[in-house]
Amino acid sequence: MSKSIQLAILASGNGTNAQQIAEHFADKPEVNVNVIIYNKKDAYVATRARQLGIEARYFNRHDFLETDDVLHFLQERSIDYVILAGFLLLVPQNLLDAFPNRIVNIHPALLPKYGGKGMYGHNVHEAVVANHETETGITIHIVDQHYDRGTTLFQARCSVTPTDTADDVAAKIHLLEKAYFPPVIESFVLHKEMPKQER
Ligand code: GAR
Repeated sequence: MSKSIQLAILASGNGTNAQQIAEHFADKPEVNVNVIIYNKKDAYVATRARQLGIEARYFNRHDFLETDDVLHFLQERSIDYVILAGFLLLVPQNLLDAFPNRIVNIHPALLPKYGGKGMYGHNVHEAVVANHETETGITIHIVDQHYDRGTTLFQARCSVTPTDTADDVAAKIHLLEKAYFPPVIESFVLHKEMPKQER
């Protein structure tokens, strides 16, 4: 049997996406969530990782941006793909060079709208509501040296009603993330193809 594909998940906060990805692959021998790396000491994702029986490894901002520690760690683990699941640091060039087209991010909006520095998590949903958007969604994309750019792999949409609050939008987005992020990762790393786009 060929070696399973090794994933490293990078996260900064709550970790619902990291958990959903780990649960999705738990019974799939072809793909293994090797480690969850987090960069905020108090990130709840570390607790989730331990509950899932997956190693959680902390690296701080300096480790990421000023050293090759993260790179060497990923290489020692023979990581094939890096998955950003609510990871809020700009990915440094050493990782981009080592994992060309092998770093995937999820963004909680229909990029190129509502992307860029400062546009993450709840800020995005607040901006969507403030601008009276009638739809929003998720974008899963390859990571490059800019925030929220890089080739789009998949988008899914949901409506925004005039009475929706940012929390309401967040709830809709979390449902899309749960439904689509794990299977899109699976299709990409195993088959280099995407599920049919939601419209
Ligand atoms: C998710 O909604 C994800 O799309 C978003 O952060 C949230 C993390 O939630 N990512 C970004 O905004 C990236 N720019 P989680 O920690 O519960 O998975």
